[in-house]
Formats: sequence, C-alpha cells, structure tokens
Amino acid sequence: MENEKKVMLSGIQPSGDLHLGNYLGAIRNWGKRAEEFDCYYFMADLHTITVRQNPADLRRRTLEQLAQYIACGLDPEKNTLFIQSHVPQHAQLGWVLNCYTMFGELSRMTQFKDKSAKNADNINGGLFTYPALMAADILLYQPDYVPVGEDQKQHVELTRNVAQRFNHIYGDVFKIPEPYIPKAGARVMSLSDPANKMSKSAPEGCVFLMEKPEDIQRKFKRAVTDCDTERCVRYDRENKPGVANLMQIYSAVTGKSYEEIEREFDGQGYGVFKPAVGDAVVECLRPIREEASRILADKAYLESVYRAGAEKASYVANKTLRKVYKKVGFVAR
Ligand code: TRP
Repeated sequence: MENEKKVMLSGIQPSGDLHLGNYLGAIRNWGKRAEEFDCYYFMADLHTITVRQNPADLRRRTLEQLAQYIACGLDPEKNTLFIQSHVPQHAQLGWVLNCYTMFGELSRMTQFKDKSAKNADNINGGLFTYPALMAADILLYQPDYVPVGEDQKQHVELTRNVAQRFNHIYGDVFKIPEPYIPKAGARVMSLSDPANKMSKSAPEGCVFLMEKPEDIQRKFKRAVTDCDTERCVRYDRENKPGVANLMQIYSAVTGKSYEEIEREFDGQGYGVFKPAVGDAVVECLRPIREEASRILADKAYLESVYRAGAEKASYVANKTLRKVYKKVGFVAR
C-alpha cells in the first residue's frame, strides 16, 4: 500500500521561528497529507549557510523547528522527517547537478538577485548555485509533488528543466516532479500593520508559536483595529482590515463563521473582542507549545526521530544517486 501512494517532498529552512501565520496558513494542514501521500520533510540546513549563520543558533533552531513541526501534527511514524546534512547524497547529487545547470539559468533566479542585493558583502558561490542543490534535494526522492510557496516555484521549474535535460542525455533517471500549490489556508496579516502579511521581521505584529501566553495576549490587545466610527465587529476586508484580520484568525482557531462571530460580539467593542481573540489563540497554541517543549527536552526521542528519518531517506536517496553515478560514468566502488 505504502508504495502506491504518490510521493511528496518539501524542505524547510530552519532560519527563523515559526509563527501563527505559518501555522494557520499552511503547517496545520500538513499532518493530513500523510493519509494520501508518502511524505518527506527535511530541515534544509545545507541551504541556510548560503547566508552567514551563527553556528549555535543554527543547531538550536534546527532541533527546535523539528520539534515544532512534530508538535504541529507531522507524525514521525507517518512522515519521513530528517535533517538534510545527515543524508550526504544531497551534497553528492548537488555537485553532479551543478554540472547540468546552466550559468544563464541560475542568473535568472529572482531569489538570487534579491538575496545578493541584500547580502552584498557575501555573494558566494553557494548562493548562486543553491537551486542545483534544491534540484538534488527533490530529485533524489523521485517525488510526484513538491509543495512550495510562490517564491519557490521558479526553483521547482528549474528542477524540472534540469531533470529533463539529464533524462534526455541518459534515459529515464528522474521522475519529473510537479509543483503542488496547497489549498490556501488563512492569510494572516500583521497585528500591528494589517496591510502586510504576518512576518517575523515585524515582531510586534507577529505571534510566535512558542511565545508565552501573556506576550501573545499583549500583542492582541495592542492589535491595530480601524479608525472607523462604528467600532463594531463586522467583516469588511476593504474598510476594516484590522478587524477582518482578527476575525479571520478567530474563525481559523475556533471554526466559527464570520456571521457567528458578528453575533457573538454584537453590541461589544474592540476592547472585548481583541482579548477574546488573544485567548482563543493562546488556547490553540498551548498544546503545540507544550508538546514542542516536551519533545525538545526529550533528546533521546528527538534523536531517534531524526536518525530513523535519515536512515529511511538515505536508503531511497542512495538508489537514485547510484543510478546517476553509473549513468555519468563513475566507476563503482
Ligand atoms: N528553498 C526552499 C526555501 O527557501 C527550501 C528548500 C530546500 C526546498 N530544498 C527544497 C523546498 C526542496 C522544497 C523542496 O524555502
């Protein structure tokens, strides 16, 4: 049965703390995918060093994020969860694919242009060739689907081109993967600036999954509402974006419809509504935070998860790598 499922794979850069926008917008739906797909997720630590990292922070974040993803519902019994640097085939196939990825193609990657503008003092080779490593990440597992956000579609497109180029020369080695655009979850906006998406770069408007309840409450109490005169809880994205955002969050965590929410807070002002949303979010995140902390404290468990994940992943990855090495003409050891 396992083998009949379509394969899905995604990499996650352990470069920042997860927040409510990540959770409600995407992560909370990931657990269910395992019913339909054979899913691989890895912490893309090799990718993070294209920009300078503090080593202790990188190590801590990698484990924290792994724990948080498990706490968000990615069951390690049902998904293959691993750390990219534990599976050397990524770097190995990455090198080979570097030689089948064109300078011109890499030069057109918008993320490279953006990141090199932002890190003008460290435009290193890895930043430039990163999409070839990403192609290797993907192609090693012969996945059918790669769930990615808008910003990564160009890299998946490049992966397809590289795979087709390789297959054209050597025969069918790689499955050509499709980008998988997940059904959009909630698009959570910043609490301090509802015109922009919630983002860790504006921390006052951002609720982190591991944040203390009192801090979460404070952020909701300070959430920007609207300077309209009616001061009532009514869903109007256009004219009341702050309230609409809070309603969306409240709806996403309680399952209530906008009409139900309007009724619930009928005749009450924002002073009642905002802390109520805060409470609901605190309660929604509490089990996640507690479970993530518990997992993180249980080093032996976490270790057993990423070891088993790496073992399963390298078994699959190695099959593809061997095939590639043989095709290009390397002598078998
Ligand atoms: N590049 C992705 C990002 O920045 C992370 C990533 C690395 C990835 N390898 C991948 C995503 C393979 C999907 C598949 O978010």
